[in-house]
Formats: sequence, structure tokens, C-alpha cells
Amino acid sequence: MSEQLILKVSQLNKVYEAADNRVHALKNVSFQLSKGECVAIMGTSGSGKSTLLNIIGAMDQPTSGEIEINNMKHYMNQFKEPHATLFRRENIGFVFQSFQLLKDLTVEENIALPLILKGLTADEVKQRVNEMIALVQLEPWSKHRPIELSGGQQQRVAIGRALITKPPIILADEPTGNLDFNTSTEILKSLFEMKIKLQQSILMVTHDAYVATYADRVLFFNDGEIVDEYRCQHSHQDMDTILHKFKVIMERNV
Ligand SMILES: Nc1ncnc2c1ncn2[C@@H]1O[C@H](COP(=O)(O)OP(=O)(O)OP(=O)(O)O)[C@@H](O)[C@H]1O
Ligand SMILES: [Mg+2]
Repeated sequence: MSEQLILKVSQLNKVYEAADNRVHALKNVSFQLSKGECVAIMGTSGSGKSTLLNIIGAMDQPTSGEIEINNMKHYMNQFKEPHATLFRRENIGFVFQSFQLLKDLTVEENIALPLILKGLTADEVKQRVNEMIALVQLEPWSKHRPIELSGGQQQRVAIGRALITKPPIILADEPTGNLDFNTSTEILKSLFEMKIKLQQSILMVTHDAYVATYADRVLFFNDGEIVDEYRCQHSHQDMDTILHKFKVIMERNV
């Protein structure tokens, strides 16, 4: 069976123009993401990683190029409001470094929010939220507010909220950036367990080679371009190869 393509990015360019400054942040970036696949993006600071995620998530507009999600072209006007918000609700789940939970809502209310915005009935919302809370193992915390939870538990709420609408793509920008090593491992395990159970496609930016070893493929960015790629073997050699490839890129910049 051939792989189902979820995301196709073709010849994407982004130029930031300011009065005295012009930054070519993405230069002819092309790649694909299949259903159930996780692609990690690694690169030096300022290489365009967040710009890429922001454009795929319709939070910013490209200068040129094309994005297809589920074989549907993501036309330029979809980057403008109100289309962009609707597009995001249908297609994208976001997981950020800083969790971005609503502090006045409980765990179950935070996870329910995307379904309420989609207009599901109260019964449907309740059922799906309960299932998701069980999946992210937060049953004892469902009536608590984010401030009462650890960082790892808060990130599990954010993952539950991102996955609840079953979006075609999860975009994660440094999802374990604010967590210690043990908590990062716990979050990665739970995110990847969900990826397998739900056949979820994930595009994840990380500066951490260990985090990248969880992905199926790693794309290496430098100065707005994809300069290298690696398919993880899920063996001990992944870490060494990823670190080596990243070091080669770092050395180009000194
Ligand atoms: N809104 C903006 N206006 C002008 N230039 C911008 C803007 N956002 C980003 N840039 C520039 O575009 C380039 C890419 O930035 P981006 O934030 O995508 O990098 P990054 O790879 O995410 O870096 P980091 O690892 O530090 O988060 C940088 O040179 C940055 O200064
Ligand atoms: Mg960034």
C-alpha cells in the first residue's frame, strides 16, 4: 500500500522586508510528511524553523510557494483572516514549548475547548474529552487548573488539546524545551504512543538530538534551506549520526 501524503510543501520562500533590512528566511523549501509519520526539524538559531511552522500553521504568509494538506491546496487567501483561523481549527494541532493553556479553565475544559469551538454537542464533547483524558493519563487531574499541575502534566494537557479534534497535522515547536530530562522522556513517550495509536502526523522543531531520535526522519536546516536529511533507524546509532550531522552544519557557520 502506498503511503498517504498528509503535507506537501513545495518551493516555499519567505522574505521579511523591513525598511533597512531584508531577510530571506526560507529558500525554496520542499518536503513531504506522510500519515502517521513524525519529521523533526533541526537547525541553527535563525535558520527558519519557526518561520516554517508559523507558515504551515497559517500564522504567517509565505512570499511564494505552495502548501498542500490532504491533497488540498492551501491557497494564499487562506492565510488571511477569517480563513486562517478556520483553517487552523480544521487542520492543525499546536504544541508549544510554553504549553499555552488557559489558566482559568480546568484540565478537562482546556482539552474540550477545540471541540466546543467546532460546535459539537455537550454529550459528544464529554465523551471525547473523557477518552482523551484517559489516553494522556490525567484522570485524577481533570477538575484541576493548570497551575496545580507539574510542567510534564501541563504539556500532556496541551497534547490532549492538540489531538482532540484529530487534526491531520500536529505542529510542535520545542515541545520539551521547558522540561527536565526525565519529564521530556515521559512526554516524548506519551506523544509517540499517541502518534502510533491515532496514526498522527507530527512536524516537530527541536534543537535536542535526543528528542529528534524519536522522529522517523530528521531534516537539517541552515540559513533557510534544507541542507541534510536522516532517516532514523531507531537504534543506538541515531543519536551519534544526528549529533554528527548537526555538528557539520554548525561548523559551516563559524
Ligand atoms: N517577524 C519577523 N520580521 C523580520 N525578520 C524575522 C521575523 N521573524 C523571523 N525573522 C528572521 O528570519 C530568520 C529566521 O527566523 P526563525 O525565527 O524562523 O529562526 P529559528 O530557526 O526558529 O531560530 P531559533 O532556533 O533561534 O528559534 C532570522 O534571521 C530572523 O531574524
Ligand atoms: Mg524558533
